[in-house]
Amino acid sequence: MSYFEWNDNLSVHDALIDQDHQALIGMVNELHDAAESEQDYQSLSKILTRLATYTQEHFQREEDLMQASAYPAYRAHKEQHRKLLERVSDLKHELENARTLVALETAELLRFWLTSHILLSDKQFADTLHQHHTEATFEKSSLR
Ligand SMILES: [Fe+2]
Repeated sequence: MSYFEWNDNLSVHDALIDQDHQALIGMVNELHDAAESEQDYQSLSKILTRLATYTQEHFQREEDLMQASAYPAYRAHKEQHRKLLERVSDLKHELENARTLVALETAELLRFWLTSHILLSDKQFADTLHQHHTEATFEKSSLR
């Protein structure tokens, strides 16, 4: 069993967002396992940098979708993303001082943060996105 398991409960029923979340979970596992096996600073730093970049790209994709669908809670959701990226950036700097400890702390933070963020905020956003799609389809079909 891996450190951070994907389960259907975490699905927001959007294939692209789910795919991103699964990729992130995979990288959190990679960071955790590398820290557990006490890999050197270079290896941990490489994984953490890749994870941080992917997180940033994923957040941007979500935010683009939110803007495109005029999501009302856009600002609050974007703020949650910004705070997490700031925390991860701090941890990236701390990694040099205590690599195993910091890498494990980062994995733990992301496991907890991603789980609650997906369940509370992303699901709420995805629901609106689905509704937006449904309305757009409905409008299109009623115009015919
Ligand atoms: Fe999000």
